[in-house]
Amino acid sequence: MTREFILFSRIGKTSPDFRNLHDAGRLDIVHECVVASLFLSHGLRRNVVFHAVLNGPPNPPLHIQIDGATLYDVRTDMDTWQSILKKVIGGKQHPGITVSRTSFEALVKAKAETAGIYVLEEGGRDVADVELPEDCVFVLGDHVGLPRKAEGFALRYGEKISLGKQPYLAASCITILNYVLDRKVKSCF
Ligand SMILES: C[S@@+](CC[C@H](N)C(=O)[O-])C[C@H]1O[C@@H](n2cnc3c(N)ncnc32)[C@H](O)[C@@H]1O
Repeated sequence: MTREFILFSRIGKTSPDFRNLHDAGRLDIVHECVVASLFLSHGLRRNVVFHAVLNGPPNPPLHIQIDGATLYDVRTDMDTWQSILKKVIGGKQHPGITVSRTSFEALVKAKAETAGIYVLEEGGRDVADVELPEDCVFVLGDHVGLPRKAEGFALRYGEKISLGKQPYLAASCITILNYVLDRKVKSCF
């Protein structure tokens, strides 16, 4: 049973020459989403994979995949993730993290072969009414939201789901989904 989250970052910088995550095209949102996706108190979610597709300058797209199964040598704070993101965007290695030139569209298409695709949006079908499959991929927009074109593409493979009418931060959406899914799995036993 795997959970994956894909964050579409419109302006996330694709080169490592930045001084802080916020000014690097809101890579602070990537940091927040990484923590919400992968960290438990005193442990990592080994069944979760987080993806960020950065579409900012100078050389988009850049796909960063962070796999909870193999992620290592990490903490939750922003300084740690600023160093890690700088390192991997600059072409260096970190355990559990892979970087490629895969576009958002190619990633969604590949994931749709083995998992259900769900696009997070306030106006979608209430998550409480959706029978989620074992393997789910959730697609989220950044501070501006998912561009129409990207949303339209993802919806060829999946459906829109909602966590309610409140517009939450992307990281809060991930926390809510992890909680909902944790409760579902627990109730199976
Ligand atoms: C900070 S929100 C962006 C809000 C932005 N004003 C917009 O128009 O989309 C970031 C992402 O979180 C997700 N999101 C926020 N609130 C949600 C909700 N109540 N239900 C489902 N997804 C939500 C969406 O994927 C959104 O693109």
